[in-house]
Amino acid sequence: MKSLTQIFDLTAEEVFGIVRQAFVFKEKLETGVRKENLLDGRGVALVFEKPSLRTKVAFEVATTSLGGIPVFLSSGQIFASGGYEQGRESIPDIARNLERFTDLIIARVYRHETIQILAQSISKPIINALCDKHHPTQALADFMTIMWHKPAWQKMKVAFVGDGNNVATSLMQICALVGMHFSIASPPGYEIPKNECEKAIDMAKKTGVQLEFFTDPREAVKQADVVYTDTFVSMGQEEETAKRLKDFSEYQITDELLKTAKSDVIFMHCLPAHRGQEVTDEVMDGAHSVIFDQAECRLHIAKSLLAHYCRI
Ligand code: CP
Ligand code: NVA
Repeated sequence: MKSLTQIFDLTAEEVFGIVRQAFVFKEKLETGVRKENLLDGRGVALVFEKPSLRTKVAFEVATTSLGGIPVFLSSGQIFASGGYEQGRESIPDIARNLERFTDLIIARVYRHETIQILAQSISKPIINALCDKHHPTQALADFMTIMWHKPAWQKMKVAFVGDGNNVATSLMQICALVGMHFSIASPPGYEIPKNECEKAIDMAKKTGVQLEFFTDPREAVKQADVVYTDTFVSMGQEEETAKRLKDFSEYQITDELLKTAKSDVIFMHCLPAHRGQEVTDEVMDGAHSVIFDQAECRLHIAKSLLAHYCRI
């Protein structure tokens, strides 16, 4: 079974199938179906080198409510405090042990290479629950949120303002794959890595959408249907906080900036948000914000991914 290391591991058909199934799980929950036995006792290892609220809770609740057994392993349990590199055993050995106990490994790590090593070490699938370069489970939930709030989502414009980081990269990839225009404004030096842009530009040519790269947030947000931001300081970048806050000082999402988007724009944020930094309280709590629906979609997508990757 193929792993989910990044969005481009999926075809557009697979993305549509996963999101469609996630809407089925959403409807079931709304009609009171809290538990079913789809996973039938399968083990799901959650290997997290970094903190998490949404991803951890979504996958643990999803696994249990589908009849699986979630096993959460934080950094200190199987790795030394420095992460895998200084751990108790090698990354391939960790994977080879876990595949004897579980059917799926969900891993949140510092380096994308760690995800690749995990995936190459065993035949059972790995799901990337965030690394330095990608956050594919987030992007799937983001797409579900857009479909929820914008039923005519095809060829709509998604604008990201801020760091060209893991979240921005996966969002760009999913837009290019399913056919939504994507624009981004980042300060010089904080752009999405060139190789990731090139792959997405190739994909966008096939799906007939535009990818645009700016430094001015107003350029990116102009007439957008969706405005999205993320923290200026990702996990692992804490030492750069002072410099980053200075470099990103012009990139805050404010009511004034949102006015340059379409009047029915939705505001999205993967969370955790740093209110008063990348976004104001007014926008977070305002009429355009769908951030908690977006967080909820993490649960429905988690269930759908478990069903997909446990071959059910
Ligand atoms: N958006 C997201 O991945 O949240 P957590 O870091 O809390 O899992
Ligand atoms: N870019 C952020 C996303 C958190 C969900 C980080 O990597 O910390």
